[in-house]
Amino acid sequence: MIDFKQKIAEILAEKLDQLTQEEILGMLETPPEMSMGDYAFPCFRLAKVLRKAPPLIAKDLAEQLSSDPLFIKVEQVNAYVNFFLSRENFVREAAAAVAEEKEAFGRSDLGAGKRVIVEFSSPNIAKPFHIGHIRSTVIGNAIYKLYDALGYETIRINHLGDYGTQFGKMIVAYRLWGSEEDVKREPIKSLLSYYVKFHEEAEKDPKLDDEARATFTKLENGSPEEVALWQWFREESLKEFNRVYGLLNIEFDSYAGESFYSDKMGRILDTLKEKNLLTLSDGAQIVNLDEWDMAPALITKSDGSTLYITRDIAAAVYRKEHYDFYKNIYVVASQQNLHFQQWFKVLELMGCDWSKDCVHVPFGLVSLEEGTMSTRSGRVVFLEDVLKRAIEQTREVIIEKNVNTDNIDVTARQVGVGAVIFQELSNGKIKDYVFSWDKVLNFDGETGPYVQYTHARACSVLRNGGESTDKALENAANLDMSYVTGDRAYELAKLVYKFPSVIQEAAEKYEPSIVTRLVVDVAQAFNRFYHDEHILVDNEAEKQAKLLLTHAAVRVLRNGLNLLGIEAPERM
Ligand code: ARG
Repeated sequence: MIDFKQKIAEILAEKLDQLTQEEILGMLETPPEMSMGDYAFPCFRLAKVLRKAPPLIAKDLAEQLSSDPLFIKVEQVNAYVNFFLSRENFVREAAAAVAEEKEAFGRSDLGAGKRVIVEFSSPNIAKPFHIGHIRSTVIGNAIYKLYDALGYETIRINHLGDYGTQFGKMIVAYRLWGSEEDVKREPIKSLLSYYVKFHEEAEKDPKLDDEARATFTKLENGSPEEVALWQWFREESLKEFNRVYGLLNIEFDSYAGESFYSDKMGRILDTLKEKNLLTLSDGAQIVNLDEWDMAPALITKSDGSTLYITRDIAAAVYRKEHYDFYKNIYVVASQQNLHFQQWFKVLELMGCDWSKDCVHVPFGLVSLEEGTMSTRSGRVVFLEDVLKRAIEQTREVIIEKNVNTDNIDVTARQVGVGAVIFQELSNGKIKDYVFSWDKVLNFDGETGPYVQYTHARACSVLRNGGESTDKALENAANLDMSYVTGDRAYELAKLVYKFPSVIQEAAEKYEPSIVTRLVVDVAQAFNRFYHDEHILVDNEAEKQAKLLLTHAAVRVLRNGLNLLGIEAPERM
C-alpha cells in the first residue's frame, strides 16, 4: 500500500530546505474533519527561519504544490496547508491491498530476526484461577499476537507460581486431611480447602508450621515422596488451567514456572556476592536500593531460602542465555510495580546491560459489580465459571433473537468468550474497571457481539454478491472506484487503510485497546455505509466497487478480532 503521509513528506521536503523529511513526517497532522482534507501541514515552526507570517508560508506552499498529481486539491487555511487526495485512488489503493493480502493484511516483517518473549497469565498452582487472572491472560495473549503479526519470533511463557514454602504447608495439610479422590475430582477447590484448614489449625498449633518448613526443605532437597506429591498437585492444577486456556484458545510455548529456577539461583547469589551487592540484615541477605528510593530487595531469608524476586532474577538471566531475546515482556498487575522496578535495578547493578530490554507491562484491577457476583467471605469467582456463564447467556440470546447459526454450541462459545475478551480489551489496560454482565453481552453497544455481528452481516452481503464478489476480488486493482467516494465509503476506507499502522502503534505501546477501538470504528463505519447505500445494486460496476469495499471491511474486522484472540463467525 502506498504510504501517503510519507509521500507528502517527500514532496514537502523538496520545497523546504529548513526541515528534514523526518521532521516533516512528524509534523504532518490528520485534520479533525474530513472537509479539511486528508493531511495537514502546520507552518508555525517555519515563521522564524523564513521571516514570514505562517499563513503566508502556507499560502505559498499550497500554490506551489497544487499541481502535483498526488492531490486533487491543496488548500491554505490560516497557518495550515491542507492536502486532499483523490478519493477514488485512495479507496482503490486500500481495498485492493486488502483483496491481495487477505489474512495477511496488516501484518509485516518489521520484527524479522528478533525474538520477543511475552510472559503472561502465570497463575499460582493449587490456587484458584479466578476472574482477577483474566487481565494478564487476555492482554498478554493479545500482545503476543501483535508482535507475531509484526514478524517477531515470539515465545509465550507461563511463569507458573509453583514454588515456595506454601507447598510445605500444602503437603502437610494433604497428608492430614486430604483425599486423593477429592483432589482428582476438584483439584483446586480441594487443595485450597486443605490449605485454608492448615492456616486455621496452625493458629492453634504452631508446631504445624515447623512441620511445614521441614517438609518444604525435603521438597527442595528432592526427597522423592514430597516431590511426587508436589508434581501431582502441579499436574492436577494445570489440567484445570488448561480447560480455561482451551476455552480462550490460548497456548503457551513454555510452562517453566518458578520451580524451574530452583537450581539456578546459586549462580545469581555468587554474582551478587562478587559484585559486592549483598548486605546482611537480621540474617537475611538484601540488596540495598536506598540510592534509587526503593525498599531493599530481599534475596534470601534468614533460613537461607530464596524468594519470589530471586527466582525472577534467575529466570531473566536464564531467558537471556537461552533465548537471547530482543525484548522480554512481563504482563503483570500494577500492584507488582515496585517488585519489577527493584529487580530490574538489581539486574542492572549485576552488570546485565540487557536489563533495559526487560519490560514490565502493568495493568489495573478488575472488580465485580455488586449484586451480580461477589467475592463474599471467601467465595472466589472462578474464571472458568465466568466464561461458562457468558457462553450460557449467549446461547439464550441466540435462541431469543433467533440468530442464524449452523451450530449453536460453536457460535455460543465464539460469541460468549469473545464478548468477555472484548470487554477486557476495550479499556485502556492501566485503568481499573468493573466487570459488567450487561455491557459484556450487549449486541448494540461497543461490544464484541456487536462487532462480530457486523462482521457476519457483511459476510452475508458478500455471499449474496455471489459471482460479482468473486469478480470484484479478482479484478480489485482495476475497478471503477468512483462509485465509492461518498463520505460514508471514504470514512470506511480511511479506517481500513489505518489498520497496519494501528497494529504497530498497539504493539509499541503494549496497548491492545487501540486495536479494539479501530475494530469498533470500522464496524460503526460499515454499518453507516450499509444503512445509507444500497450495495447489491443492478449496475454491475457499482456493485463490484461496493463489494470490494465491503470485503475490505470484513477483512479488517476479522483480522482485528483475531489479533485480540477473538473468533469471527461468518454467520450469526
Ligand atoms: N504468580 C504470580 C501471581 O499470581 C504472578 C507472576 C508474575 N510474573 C513474574 N515473573 N513475577 O501473582
